[in-house]
Amino acid sequence: MYRPLTLLSLLFLATTAGAQHQVSGRLDDRAVPGTLPLEEIRAMLADAAATKPYEFPTLPGLPEDLASFVPADNPMTNAKVELGRQLYFDKRLSRDGTVSCATCHDPARGWTDTSPVSTGIAAQKGGRSAPTVTNRLFGKTQFWDGRAASLEEQALGPIANPVEMGFTHDEAIERLNQVKGYVVQFAAVFGTPVTADGIAKAIAAFERTILSGGNKNDYYEAAERWFDWDEASEDDAEVRALANRALDLEAQHRMSPSAERGRALFFGKASCSACHVGADLTDEMFHNIGVQPDDPGRSAVTGDAAHTGAFKTPSLRNIALTAPYMHDGSLKTLVEVVEHYNKGGTPNDHLSEKIFPLKLTPQEVQDVARFMEEALTGPVTEVEVPRLP
Ligand code: HEC
Ligand code: HEC
Repeated sequence: MYRPLTLLSLLFLATTAGAQHQVSGRLDDRAVPGTLPLEEIRAMLADAAATKPYEFPTLPGLPEDLASFVPADNPMTNAKVELGRQLYFDKRLSRDGTVSCATCHDPARGWTDTSPVSTGIAAQKGGRSAPTVTNRLFGKTQFWDGRAASLEEQALGPIANPVEMGFTHDEAIERLNQVKGYVVQFAAVFGTPVTADGIAKAIAAFERTILSGGNKNDYYEAAERWFDWDEASEDDAEVRALANRALDLEAQHRMSPSAERGRALFFGKASCSACHVGADLTDEMFHNIGVQPDDPGRSAVTGDAAHTGAFKTPSLRNIALTAPYMHDGSLKTLVEVVEHYNKGGTPNDHLSEKIFPLKLTPQEVQDVARFMEEALTGPVTEVEVPRLP
């Protein structure tokens, strides 16, 4: 059933339930062209909220000033985000109308496709695993090898990629310019007909709204400094209230003893945090961790042989939802991932010096996996499947 498009549907609500694990069918199959009448689009655009800046929620564990991550040349209005949501789910951006962005980055599958490598139009397989599009707001580069500098630059890639959407930008633009509902929205949002630049900007604006924060680890980190605190020694009532609030939230989201041991290993003996650091658990850098030393990886972008087999450190938020793992989807479970690191990766000429045998016991391997599975899984922005013009 399609809910009417109101400005309320622009207020993406974060759920506490987290993403579903079992899914049948593809969400973008429910985004049907022609189900969003022109009158509704006009009414939405006439509403004062359309031109207002998109308001980010406050999410535990993420920086407070989320709007400061939005590039100056692509400010986010509600109408632009809504247009991007439609384009993201619209299969007309692919040559044969069978593939949308959501086909490979499916909200019901942790915003990825849970396959080792992705399948595009005409059942063609690509060479790499589809990453999630969650928290891309923070991404300094896009793709496993960082070959796109921005989400805007990234968004046009798949449309013209022969094994993904297999179209050309000119043909996609021509097709969308025949859809009155899009023409009206592009005119209102960008003051132009449908253009490649506008498609890229709208999709990027939508992607920046897909956020995840508020997992058990976030609550733990917010409360950690108060763990050994003696309330009686604190005179300031405000500080007491703040501390008690943080401690209460942590208690409501307490991780299991195994996950907590795993956390200590992650930031300690297992040295995962040498690369997986910060709010999004990535240093945004490129490393060869000995997965598949034959893929040129980052060296294809920099031309530097030393970067052979180096890939971008991915965020580990909601990692339990996006198996299989690594750029080639070669590791099936989180335990396999930790075992990979425990043996020091696969030796090769360009292996990072931060990768070495960890000497974790079998229990410790389980604990690190448990930490990722349990404490890094959190709510994601809930996005309704749009009706399409
Ligand atoms: C056929 C499957 C497929 C389709 C369709 C597809 N993607 Fe992707 N996407 C991938 C794969 C595979 C990668 C990783 C490729 C690489 O790094 O070389 C990727 C990478 C990305 C990234 C980079 C994420 C990161 O962490 O660096 C973003 C963002 C993204 N896609 C958004 C989109 C958008 C927007 C669309 C629609 C315009 C789209 N994708 C269509 C498979 C797909
Ligand atoms: C030297 C930096 C570095 C260290 C140390 C490191 N990682 Fe990674 N991690 C990466 C990079 C880079 C990738 C992607 C590699 C690839 O696909 O070839 C990755 C990928 C992963 C993935 C798969 C992500 C996905 O989306 O498929 C998981 C899970 C992971 N790391 C967990 C860990 C854990 C647990 C540790 C500690 C035991 C750790 N990492 C230590 C850099 C690092």
